[in-house]
Amino acid sequence: MAYSFLPLRFRHLFIVVIFVATILLFQSYWKTFSILLDVPTFIANNVTILDHEFDSDEGRIFRSESFVVDNHEEEIHSFTPKRLRDENGIQSLEFESKNGLLKTTLSVLNNKSMTGSSTQTSKLAWPTSLTALNSRLIRSFNSSSMKPEWSSRRDRELLSAKLEIGNANAISNSPGLYAPLYRDVSKFSRSYELMERKLKVYIYREGEKPIFHQPKMRGIYASEGWFMKLMEGSKRFIVKDPKKAHLFYLPFSSQMLRANISNNKLMEQYLERYVNLIAGRYRFWNRTGGSDHFLVACHDWASRITMQPMKNCIRSLCNANAAKGFQIGKDTTLPVTYIHSVMNPLRKIAGKPPSERTILAFFAGGMHGYLRPILLKHWENKEPDMKIFGQMARDAEGKRIYMEYMNSSRYCICARGYEVHTPRIVEAIFSECVPVIISDNYVPPFFEVLEWEAFSVFVRESDVPSLRDILLSIPEEKYLALHFGVKKVQQHFLWHKIPVKFDLFHMILHSVWNNRLSQMRLK
Ligand SMILES: *[C@@H]1O[C@H](CO)[C@@H](O)[C@H](O)[C@H]1NC(C)=O
Ligand SMILES: *[C@@H]1O[C@H](CO)[C@@H](O)[C@H](O)[C@H]1NC(C)=O
Ligand SMILES: *[C@@H]1O[C@H](CO)[C@@H](O)[C@H](O)[C@H]1NC(C)=O
Repeated sequence: MAYSFLPLRFRHLFIVVIFVATILLFQSYWKTFSILLDVPTFIANNVTILDHEFDSDEGRIFRSESFVVDNHEEEIHSFTPKRLRDENGIQSLEFESKNGLLKTTLSVLNNKSMTGSSTQTSKLAWPTSLTALNSRLIRSFNSSSMKPEWSSRRDRELLSAKLEIGNANAISNSPGLYAPLYRDVSKFSRSYELMERKLKVYIYREGEKPIFHQPKMRGIYASEGWFMKLMEGSKRFIVKDPKKAHLFYLPFSSQMLRANISNNKLMEQYLERYVNLIAGRYRFWNRTGGSDHFLVACHDWASRITMQPMKNCIRSLCNANAAKGFQIGKDTTLPVTYIHSVMNPLRKIAGKPPSERTILAFFAGGMHGYLRPILLKHWENKEPDMKIFGQMARDAEGKRIYMEYMNSSRYCICARGYEVHTPRIVEAIFSECVPVIISDNYVPPFFEVLEWEAFSVFVRESDVPSLRDILLSIPEEKYLALHFGVKKVQQHFLWHKIPVKFDLFHMILHSVWNNRLSQMRLK
């Protein structure tokens, strides 16, 4: 190995010493400044522990107001037969008719895994809620954004990056990346590297606080705040001269917009006026109709209120519902990271090893939306290895028990609430519990690049009755691979005060860059 050369070893040692010293320095720096700035020092595993208390906020903060009814009505609509006519609905009907077949397959799989003779590590034997989304991603490669009014040097730079990524040589190992987690690790690695080297972003200065330029760093919508703060503070990516930019960031907070304007229509009009302002003042919006502009927004309603005024923009949204206007391949999913407390930056993220995870599946949470009551109806107090609960106690003891379950379960159920997204996915990843996503039409974060089935399980809403069979049918080998994948994917879901390679900030930006490139046509 290379380490057998003495001078090299010293060099490594020196780098490590410098690195540790730097970390210690930053640590004390942040301790001082985070008090002034009122931001958490770090966010790691306990970030989302309180998820069982608060989920998607609209049912929490505004419980008594009319929009809840609004939201609730939608849930009911999504259960009517009308909804079943859409693409995914038809599949779910087809699937139901094959239920008998499925049962047979399941029992065969079960027997195999019990006798230990199974060598199956491949995909599950039935369609998951991801099947249809995958084909939509592939179809999106044939769509393109508006042809620019005039071609720019920045476009040519992007096109050359796209060409380079397309020609990326297959590599078997990329430092820091575990290949099975990616759709194509060579392309991702090359694309990421080119983003770091080339991408320049312009941030419009227009827009008043608190809706613009005022990141909010805590709470369930903190993702948009953290992104805004890190983007506005980025030395690497931002440029002062918009002519040098490949992408244009619209720095507003959907959470503050919601806090200041009470109604959907008015919020939409507010954004429309903002778009008219920048379209009138700069030439860039009109050039592409907004296709090279992006926004990052976590509020439940952000998808709805940006649909018209910012329809061509690349929208990074928490509420990524492919059945409600989220365009796979153009829009991208912002992970929900629930941030509520100050944390130690060097705290290690870990849960129990697989051998000590004795519970098959765990869920606890409020009865938000239509799906969770169904989950409880089928699984609450039914089987000893299925720990499926409603709302847990909100005191310290309740929190401890919740963590204990996350730590000692094999699978953590991430069932949709009022909307498709839930902070449980990131929470499960932090506890090294394999996420089981039950939320049809939810497009998971970084779907463009990640192979989600390498570290999570997707179960269709209509398959809740077979949930236990589905989980039991996953062979031990496959479970171990999923668990390992969860550990390896953690780095992409972590915020850092000073962004580090492959972290959440970079992954969000990469998805925007990726989708801009995929929307451009090579002549
Ligand atoms: C916007 O909302 C914030 C937070 O609720 C509040 O402090 C602020 O006064 C509001 N601003 C306006 C202009 O309504
Ligand atoms: C962009 O188009 C809008 C609407 O057509 C127009 O009002 C605006 O003046 C244009 N912007 C520029 C900079 O020409
Ligand atoms: C859960 O696991 C983490 C990491 O191992 C540990 O710090 C924490 O104390 C555990 N919590 C419980 C309740 O076991």
